[in-house]
Amino acid sequence: MAERIFIGVAWPYANGWLHLGHIAGAYLPADIFARYHRLKGNEVLMVSGSDQHGTPITVQAEQEGITPQQVVDKYHASFLECWQRLGIEFDLFTATGTANHRETVHDLFGRLQAGGYIYEGTMPLPYCTNEGRFLPDRYVEGTCPHCQSPRARGDQCERCGKTLDPQDLIDPRCRICGHLPIIRDSQHLFFRLSAFQAPLLEWVKQQEHWRPNVLNFTRRYLEDGLRDRAITRDISWGIPTPVAGYEEKRIYVWFEAVMGYLSASKEWAQREGEPERWRDFWQGEARSYYFIGKDNIPFHTIIWPAMIMGAGDLKLPYDVPANEFLNLEGGKFSTSRNWAVWVPDYLERYAPDPLRYYLSAGMPEGADADFSWREYVRRNNDELVATYGNLVHRVLTFTYRNFEGRIPEPGPLDEQSQRLLARADAALENVGDHLAHCHFRLGIQEVMALAQEGNRYVDARAPWVTLRTDHQATATTLWTALYAISALKTMVSPYLPFTTQQLHQMMGFPGTLQEAGWKIQRPQPGQPLEAPKPLFTKLEPTVVEEETSRLQARVNPGPTAG
Ligand code: MF3
Ligand code: ZN
Repeated sequence: MAERIFIGVAWPYANGWLHLGHIAGAYLPADIFARYHRLKGNEVLMVSGSDQHGTPITVQAEQEGITPQQVVDKYHASFLECWQRLGIEFDLFTATGTANHRETVHDLFGRLQAGGYIYEGTMPLPYCTNEGRFLPDRYVEGTCPHCQSPRARGDQCERCGKTLDPQDLIDPRCRICGHLPIIRDSQHLFFRLSAFQAPLLEWVKQQEHWRPNVLNFTRRYLEDGLRDRAITRDISWGIPTPVAGYEEKRIYVWFEAVMGYLSASKEWAQREGEPERWRDFWQGEARSYYFIGKDNIPFHTIIWPAMIMGAGDLKLPYDVPANEFLNLEGGKFSTSRNWAVWVPDYLERYAPDPLRYYLSAGMPEGADADFSWREYVRRNNDELVATYGNLVHRVLTFTYRNFEGRIPEPGPLDEQSQRLLARADAALENVGDHLAHCHFRLGIQEVMALAQEGNRYVDARAPWVTLRTDHQATATTLWTALYAISALKTMVSPYLPFTTQQLHQMMGFPGTLQEAGWKIQRPQPGQPLEAPKPLFTKLEPTVVEEETSRLQARVNPGPTAG
């Protein structure tokens, strides 16, 4: 039976280019997962959008000397281009700046208010007497009370991942002028998060299928006790607060950004011409997955679920397969220290699939992982070119040359050939299982193991030798190898969508691989092949040095979180 799968992916702040850490952290796993489910014939809705509000944007606007709107327009456009060129296929990638989002936020806000979950209060806030203004969270910096990181921000400590209030910081200072902020009372609206402590604990207890890192983080967070949260801010860039007396304040960016999952679903339904269809995913039989980096865990396992509980009739997350961090050449990705590989920059020189391959094989699933150019070149050359690509290329070219460019008719399948077929069938099953459980590394390992097995089979059968003596045995070998290749093209297609579509065509299959679905397409004897071209290109070892020296030299295009 077809399943319904909602996939929410973290909304990137529209204040800088995407780097490889973002891709490995959330967008690539989400896309692989979505592609797998679409191939299975499941109904998938995958959404995200630009996070366009809050101080990350205004800070960037100040730095670039342009308006916040110009900042978000510029980076939103660059995101769309990245998705297209990387093959990250959203059903909708929208933005928090839309009228639809504002309406959805106001609607949810109203329902939480009606439920008694929003109340007025005052809050002592950092105020910079030098600047004459209240300082938003991100405009206060200081030492983290949890891990003593000296560069924690007033909203979150990037080092330990804890969310903070600016008052928590030790030795706070104004980000703009460096002065010590004073504390003044400011009137704000609060979300009664504390009311959800018990129901959240109860719910989290049942989530045994979550990744251990996500489950442990969430449990600890709950055990610390939930505090109510201020959900308005003394800023002018953001979503207006729908309450009299709050005209000068805006809704806190995190409080509205997570609602984007719902507003994007509504916008998608609208665009599909079936405006009520979002309900299938939010109120009907469906499972929701949220792909995020680990710094976003509490917002997706605590705060958004609490809001959903408060709203009453929306579906809670089924899984939040948060990834750990990707490092770069052993160091943390950092815009301020100019330590990053930017996606647009990467795509200028290299193809998308080798990157998707590397980031999948080395995905930061259970632990932090590292991107290094040396490893990138090695994986490209040894694994894509020499293992998987080699199997495909030698079998296709040999068949093309010696069997009149067509898939040969096999003789009776001997035991060795049957073993490879069985192995291919099992591999498809296993990869599907891994993908369904968001075990992306295990899935790609299984793919490569089958490619190795295919190479061993071809080596052992030596069709270039048997060609002169036994035409039928040669045909059997090639047909069997083509079957394994056909299996590979399906199971690796969620990871490598561009080259698998190419392979699909080279093997003479009609239409798209996507339409063929999650099953092995049997090579049809007589089916004409296209003239084979290599799927991957070997990289010179000099790439390592070139790219490593580029790392420090690159002009910093602008800060993003992390
Ligand atoms: N913009 C946030 C970040 O980059 C993520 C927001 S995810 C959302 O860390 F769910 F809140 F939208
Ligand atoms: Zn910390």
